[in-house]
Amino acid sequence: SYTEPALKSVFAEDFKIGAAVNPLTIQSQEELLAYHFNSITAENEMKFASLHPVEIVYSFGDADRLVAFARKHNMAMRGHTLLWHNQTSDWLFEDRNGGPASKELLLDRLKSHIHTVVGRYKEDIYAWDVVNEAIADEGDQLLRPSKWIEIAGTDFIAKAFEYAHEADPKALLFYNDYNESDPNKRDKIYTLVKSLLEQGVPIHGVGLQAHWNLYDPTLDDIRAAIEKYAALGLQLQLTELDVSMFRFEDKRTDLTAPGADLLQWQAERYEALFRLLKEYRNVISSVTFWGAADDYTWLDDFPVRGRKNWPFLFDEQHRPKPAFDRIANLG
Ligand code: XIL
Repeated sequence: SYTEPALKSVFAEDFKIGAAVNPLTIQSQEELLAYHFNSITAENEMKFASLHPVEIVYSFGDADRLVAFARKHNMAMRGHTLLWHNQTSDWLFEDRNGGPASKELLLDRLKSHIHTVVGRYKEDIYAWDVVNEAIADEGDQLLRPSKWIEIAGTDFIAKAFEYAHEADPKALLFYNDYNESDPNKRDKIYTLVKSLLEQGVPIHGVGLQAHWNLYDPTLDDIRAAIEKYAALGLQLQLTELDVSMFRFEDKRTDLTAPGADLLQWQAERYEALFRLLKEYRNVISSVTFWGAADDYTWLDDFPVRGRKNWPFLFDEQHRPKPAFDRIANLG
């Protein structure tokens, strides 16, 4: 029933076109996903707390359903994520008496988690966000304070990549972060990944989350970030793209529907972004949106709870928006 060109065909010579999905959207958005997208990522279902709520219990049900959906529709699948400071079970950081885990215990558990999960999906998942958001946003400090660094020092990052590589030597392993186009954070991400490469750590790509909006970041900052990461000699993927109608600091809640002016503005923004991405088609191998259509986006709850947002190329009825029309001509 779709008459517009398929996004995955428009950009077939450039990069994969992905969407984050969950057990609800693989039903409510199945047709749209199958028609336009050739890659998926689990929105929450492969995070540590989802997969491994208790030390002796793994719960693979939802993750397996998403993998089966990718198979059914012949889509590639990215894995998200093996090590993060959020959505991670508390037991991981505690010993069996409720005190803090030792470094050895924490790394043993990390190894066993990564071996189990990456091993289970090695036929289906071609790329993993091994470490997510480990860099500090502000200031000169390189790494974000977390239980990981408190207990295991800084080498938990290299270890995670090594464990993932052991479990699936063919998988492409990514470091993934947000505010990736901010000059200060960009330079820190570059520094971290460069030092991993110098240590011989198996890392193959940088994931740019790309939670962007109508205003920020500037095209110049995005370009500079792509250039800088590309200088590492690794491939890049946009892993969580959305174009919010609001600046991050904008907490207004009075917009109930985007008017023609905003939709037009978003269309121009998307066109400029995809023109830029296409210039780097030799280094960018995938562009994944953090959702597929405006009927469901995590931005409906972030950073303002319950405020509707319209960040995608398709509207709440899965019809192409002006932004779609502008990028459908770029192929
Ligand atoms: C978000 C999910 O979309 C939400 O459903 C969940 O409540 C919180 O996490 N950076 C990431 C993603 O790497 O895992 C986050 O996903 C969005 C920000």
